[in-house]
Amino acid sequence: MLQRENNVSDVLRKAIFPAAGLGTRFLPATKASPKEMLPIVDKPMIQYGVEEAISCGLKEIVIITGKHKRSIEDHFDYAFELEDKLRKSGKKKLIEEINRLNKIKIGYIRQGYALGLGHAISCARPFVNDEPFAVILSDDVIDTNETLLKDMVALYKKLKSPILALEKVPVSEVHRYGVIGGTKEGDGVYRIDTLVEKPDRESAPSDLAIIGRYILTPDIFEILSKSKPGKGGEIQLTDAIAKLLKKRPVYGYLFKGKRFDAGDKFGYLKATVHFALKNPELSAQFRSHILEVARKLKR
Ligand code: UTP
Repeated sequence: MLQRENNVSDVLRKAIFPAAGLGTRFLPATKASPKEMLPIVDKPMIQYGVEEAISCGLKEIVIITGKHKRSIEDHFDYAFELEDKLRKSGKKKLIEEINRLNKIKIGYIRQGYALGLGHAISCARPFVNDEPFAVILSDDVIDTNETLLKDMVALYKKLKSPILALEKVPVSEVHRYGVIGGTKEGDGVYRIDTLVEKPDRESAPSDLAIIGRYILTPDIFEILSKSKPGKGGEIQLTDAIAKLLKKRPVYGYLFKGKRFDAGDKFGYLKATVHFALKNPELSAQFRSHILEVARKLKR
């Protein structure tokens, strides 16, 4: 094991997108359609994550899907009938836009039952084999200008150890996250020594919560294969990482930029406003609409 740790590759090529969750916080919209396909302005939320992965040089993507998730596969594929119609009406630019991501290698693995994030990751084992990999939770939408994952990839190349993205959250919210305890080792870098899934505020080891970007090493799969359901009856990734850190160093990297929990209705609305205000075609019109609404609310 030690030898494998020392030889661990610094070449990071693969990204896993778990997208098989049931999306209960977004019902009824997610009853028969995937949460990951909910649009934020004009792109489904999973596309933001895929673009982020590509911008970090990740070359192979696997999406973990489940029931009612076929539209994700269709979205990253050619749509001949639509293309034909667009071609006939001279909308060449739109054809380029809808096909922009089709050249990327994307694979799909079904998670038969939504047994938790840890279980979803373990489904990707045949795809990952013996390489390090990134995990992107696409309902954690991060502004395209942010370099979180890029910074984590750079840090991984230096440390060759698992790295979890962290965010400082109000103590009143720690119960919604996996929370770490650890020692600061550099600018925004923490060596993690404890991990607790959804603690109450009294037992939380800190206010540093894990958010939806991870770089993991393949030794996590062995631990996941032996994991029993934890909080909420699900196989928790946090529990498996808590075991991993007894065997090897695991680091956290503090993110200070903009992230939206778009799997939650309010977070989704905030993301929509943020990206609409940044959209060159909509921004001016949308800004004046918002100001108008705010004026009316004040009256
Ligand atoms: P969430 O905690 O957001 O769960 O999962 P969820 O089921 O999607 O949504 P809620 O909480 O019921 O509203 C975090 C990520 O892990 C994936 C989800 O698709 C999401 O991207 N996931 C979760 C799986 O792929 N499989 C699972 O069994 C659970």
